[in-house]
Amino acid sequence: MLYIQSLGKYWLWVIALSNEVYIIGAGETKFGELWDKSLRNLAVEAGLKAVEDAGIYSKDIDAIYGANSLAGIINMQENIGALIADFSGLSAEGIPSLRVESSTASGGAALRDAYLSIKSGEYDVVVVGGVEKMTDIHGSDILEKSSSILDREWEAFFGATPAAMAALIARKYMHDFGVEKEALSMFSVNDHLNGSKNPDAQFRNKLTIQQAMNSTAVADPLNMMDCSPMSDGAAAVVLASESFIKKNKREGVRILSSAVAEDYLSVGSRKSIYTLNSTKLAVEKALRKSGIKRNDISFMEVHDSFSIFGLLELEDLGFAEKGKAKDLVYDEIKLNGSIPVNPSGGLKAKGDPYGAVGVGQAVDAYRQLKGKAGDNQIKDAKYALLHNMAGTGTSSIIHILGE
Ligand code: COA
Repeated sequence: MLYIQSLGKYWLWVIALSNEVYIIGAGETKFGELWDKSLRNLAVEAGLKAVEDAGIYSKDIDAIYGANSLAGIINMQENIGALIADFSGLSAEGIPSLRVESSTASGGAALRDAYLSIKSGEYDVVVVGGVEKMTDIHGSDILEKSSSILDREWEAFFGATPAAMAALIARKYMHDFGVEKEALSMFSVNDHLNGSKNPDAQFRNKLTIQQAMNSTAVADPLNMMDCSPMSDGAAAVVLASESFIKKNKREGVRILSSAVAEDYLSVGSRKSIYTLNSTKLAVEKALRKSGIKRNDISFMEVHDSFSIFGLLELEDLGFAEKGKAKDLVYDEIKLNGSIPVNPSGGLKAKGDPYGAVGVGQAVDAYRQLKGKAGDNQIKDAKYALLHNMAGTGTSSIIHILGE
């Protein structure tokens, strides 16, 4: 491909290979309370499924990037990169295997690092995995550990949990924009409807709006059906360079762009608590780099760890004005709506194994874009936007996938 760059009044002609990056295989475990499977079982199960799907051999793999958020404090297991390589039988071959950690956006971060490693020309084939095993401990233990993704000194130390922070944001948002609780619940109703058709989802029950509105209170105004669950699960994709797929006559789904942006760690430091600034910044970068327009997006997988975030994401990704996402949640986000959201069931119904979420989104999008999404297939799906977010919005990582 030929690139022309303008440098002031001088023209510089640069001839370069485009070095596009493709997803050529994908696999995941079921998400849920998987007491019969360990952290390593889950990681390897997903990895093998992806490798098999891609039709590659261990000799093809240049590197492994493994996403995980909390294994050190939940499972007392660090050194996840080595664990995955060892248990996959790849240690003897010396294949580099590194862990990537960025809280609940670890999966997106690993995907991005792998993408950049191929884009730079360093590698041709990289396996990206994400794994989390959260249900081996329960009650206040898991609540305390999962709250470590917040600011320890300014939030978690005072008893705040992710649900409590999301509830503060929801209360202020509902007050300032006159949004009723029903709009939040509708987001979960849509997730459960889609999750009911996803065999890998943690919850496959449909929800009525009454069930969603009347479930057990967690942190007012949020109740259980506004919250993602604690989940076990793993997901993996195989990325390959353009030269690899041409040489080996493979087809894949192209990663059109990858972008990341940050915001303050503690919610209280932000200018507006109901604006996800990292999401706003990342989506603009991702769209610019992809060369497509917002209207071209066929569907999105968004990081709705709480229903309120689902609404804020619709706004900060640029699909509704602030305070107006309520107009999209009844019909527009459905599978046959103008902007389908979370065909997989999202974090609410598919599940929320922290480090696996971002990679799981890529698995779902890969299947959609290959026309292999079963009962949740979106007609003529061409471009997918994946939004993976850390904690209450500290980092947002966006990938746009397409042809
Ligand atoms: N949605 C639907 N059902 C849920 C659920 C959820 N989010 N969470 C738990 N359940 C179900 C369980 O499957 C279980 O069902 P069963 O009795 O049929 O087996 C039942 O509710 C009780 O489960 P339990 O694990 O005891 O729930 P809990 O009360 O300990 O925890 C929440 C429920 C919602 C408080 C907990 O999942 C939570 O804190 N979620 C938020 C996760 C989070 O903070 N993510 C951070 C993202 S930044």
